[in-house]
Amino acid sequence: MSTIVSPSMLSADFLNLGKDVNMVNESQADWIHLDIMDGVFVPNISYGLPVVSQIKKVATKPLDVHLMIVRPERYIEAFREAGADILTVHLEASTHLHRTIQQIKSCGMKAGVALNPHTPVNQLEDIIQDIDVVLIMSVNPGFGGQSFIPQALDKVKKLKQLICTTGSNSLIEVDGGVNLETGKQLVSAGANALVAGSFVFKSDNPAATIQELKKLNA
Ligand code: DX5
Ligand code: ZN
Repeated sequence: MSTIVSPSMLSADFLNLGKDVNMVNESQADWIHLDIMDGVFVPNISYGLPVVSQIKKVATKPLDVHLMIVRPERYIEAFREAGADILTVHLEASTHLHRTIQQIKSCGMKAGVALNPHTPVNQLEDIIQDIDVVLIMSVNPGFGGQSFIPQALDKVKKLKQLICTTGSNSLIEVDGGVNLETGKQLVSAGANALVAGSFVFKSDNPAATIQELKKLNA
């Protein structure tokens, strides 16, 4: 399976969002990553439901929505209505994670669980079989353009082992500080999907950068 690439619109040009969505549509990207921040779970506020619904009108690829909000279960249906295809919640933000995952799936979305850099992958032991995507954070969530935390590589390897031993079908996605160098290491460690924000949108040719990421393989 080739590497799944999910460009993060957090680094897009918000004054010309449609143009950047079209670039992603026409590129080899697989998903469109949308970062929702509430200023409580993370020290930043990004954009919310109206922006997701507008993007949905023009996007030709699945919307990979990353909720960095407290008590995400309050907004599952709202994000489904706005057009999310994959809905990822943080383990650290969800008291009843099992129920939250079931709710996401019963609304017809793929369920993702994100782990902050300090959260060990063994906390997923009893839930991994129910998850479609695990999102390993390789930066502290809240901002684009931060440096990659190298311990993420070890976490990807451990998670891959957990997935293999439990027979789970979960994909491993990694978010934060991804570029060609860290991307290559992540894919070799077992990552299936890469999120990249600043590396894609700050490059001279974002579509070509997406293509380079897409070419990475183990
Ligand atoms: C960070 C977000 C990321 C962010 C990644 O909290 O979850 O998706 O956009 O940005 P880069 O790729 O610039 O590290
Ligand atoms: Zn993200």
